[in-house]
Amino acid sequence: MHTTDLTETRTRIAAKLVGRERELELTLAAVAAGRDIVLEGPPGTSKTTMLRAITDEWGIPLLFVEGNADLTPAKLVGHHNPARVLREDYSADNFVAGPLVEAMQTGGFLYIEEFNRAPEDTLNTLLAAMADRSIAVPRVGSIAAQPTFRVIASMNPYDNMGTTRLSTSVHDRLNRLAIGYQDDDAERGIVTLRTDADGPLGRDLTVDAVALTRATREHPDVRQGSSVRGAIDCVLVGLQLAGLRGVRDAGDPGYPALVYDAMVVSLSGRIHLDEAAETTPERVLREIWEDRFILNPAAAAPG
Ligand SMILES: Nc1ncnc2c1ncn2[C@@H]1O[C@H](COP(=O)(O)OP(=O)(O)OP(=O)(O)O)[C@@H](O)[C@H]1O
Ligand SMILES: [Mg+2]
Repeated sequence: MHTTDLTETRTRIAAKLVGRERELELTLAAVAAGRDIVLEGPPGTSKTTMLRAITDEWGIPLLFVEGNADLTPAKLVGHHNPARVLREDYSADNFVAGPLVEAMQTGGFLYIEEFNRAPEDTLNTLLAAMADRSIAVPRVGSIAAQPTFRVIASMNPYDNMGTTRLSTSVHDRLNRLAIGYQDDDAERGIVTLRTDADGPLGRDLTVDAVALTRATREHPDVRQGSSVRGAIDCVLVGLQLAGLRGVRDAGDPGYPALVYDAMVVSLSGRIHLDEAAETTPERVLREIWEDRFILNPAAAAPG
């Protein structure tokens, strides 16, 4: 791809994303260079949104697979339809492509989430396809990848249960981009985009929901806090509660309790406590809420 094309491509994709200029630029540079990449970041940090925007722009498919112990090489590559094999014997015709072969044939991006959870033989199959840009399928033959085929892997840096420790030879075959949480401005922008909450109550709820969600990532008893998805849901639930309770704005005496209730529903399942912590998600959320609405009310939305 020519440089001017790539500059224009970036501008068009950036218009569909809130922030993330640097991550988009680096990811785009890697895939435009014909390379595969690992995106390493916690949930909700724009990985899928960014890849979807890139593949839409390129007009190619984005195929998802989840890396876990069940992802065998056969699931990734494909299999022969057993009923047809019984009738017709093996042929290229009764081969059902798995996501890897489909991505290679259609020139799509194969997006492997939690790729460090996949078994080692599956990783080896994948690495061979990436290196060769083709794959030999028994009884089908050699399948060559279309030029836009890429493998994008993702990993959650907080995730260390049931994961394979990737060997240095795996790391040596991949580029990597570490992605962190969005800043608070961008998180408010994302929440506004996804909730359409633009009245006074919606704006105040957005400010509070983003601040409370971000606080879950700093709490000492929390191993992994909530992503921006928690803030999005906090605002959506909060707006419905406001309707049910007749709360019109953040000055209403019922507003702090409403935020607390919306927060318990939207965040309690999304925070993961430290193994050693002797507390509950509800207690942690109560502390975070008290910190904002009772101990430090000036920080909360004007009311
Ligand atoms: N930069 C962004 N612009 C607009 N919306 C965004 C952006 N980042 C995230 N979102 C919204 O936040 C939610 C989560 O984002 P996304 O699915 O891209 O995260 P992810 O990094 O793929 O998370 P996971 O690792 O859990 O799959 C989605 O609803 C998405 O619409
Ligand atoms: Mg995702």
